[in-house]
Amino acid sequence: MVIKTAEFVKSSGKWQDCPEPKIPEYAFIGRSNVGKSSLINAMLNRKDLAKTSQTPGKTQLINHFLINENWYLTDLPGYGYAKVSKSQRKDFEKLITNYILNRKNLVNLFVLVDSRHSAQKIDLEFIEWCGENGIPFSIVFTKADKLKGNAATANVEKYKEELLKTWEDLPETYLTSAEKKEGGDEILQFIQTTNEF
Ligand code: GTP
Ligand code: MG
Repeated sequence: MVIKTAEFVKSSGKWQDCPEPKIPEYAFIGRSNVGKSSLINAMLNRKDLAKTSQTPGKTQLINHFLINENWYLTDLPGYGYAKVSKSQRKDFEKLITNYILNRKNLVNLFVLVDSRHSAQKIDLEFIEWCGENGIPFSIVFTKADKLKGNAATANVEKYKEELLKTWEDLPETYLTSAEKKEGGDEILQFIQTTNEF
């Protein structure tokens, strides 16, 4: 897919404030600092469209970007950030889960996980929750450039084995690097094939 236009639409503190759900929408979710905002920028080839930071917890609202004037890409706050208070963490979780459960035009959720680590409990629980609630999702492995040789690919295979302990079918997976601008095209291709723009 050629990205002709990519523009920030708005930030919303609750799902009810999101733009009218009149066009297809795809959202990036995952632990704080996993690289959601960076991958959005890399994928769209726009430097600072989504705000990134070395400090976890940068994205605190639901951010909508309008792509090619016919679909939304959404940057969500990260889950599981340990350094905020318990009540704040609960508020974030509520914001995220309410958005996912209520957003009628949401076509697919991209769950981002760090390719350097083995499957984390919090991610597996979130993936499980998606399954229980019938939410279509794919898994995106990030920061592949931080690993040498085929270590990232090997980690992806291990992750799939872990998933197969509870899932009959595997979701789509993508290995990406925002730093090296890799893997974004495959995600865009998937987005294109799940919708006719
Ligand atoms: P929150 O908004 O806090 O939930 O974080 P996020 O998931 O949006 O992460 P963000 O894109 O802000 O990136 C977090 C840090 O990881 C930043 O310092 C990025 O530069 C770095 N980072 C993100 N993607 C990559 C990547 O592909 N490779 C490398 N080497 N660093 C990355
Ligand atoms: Mg972010």
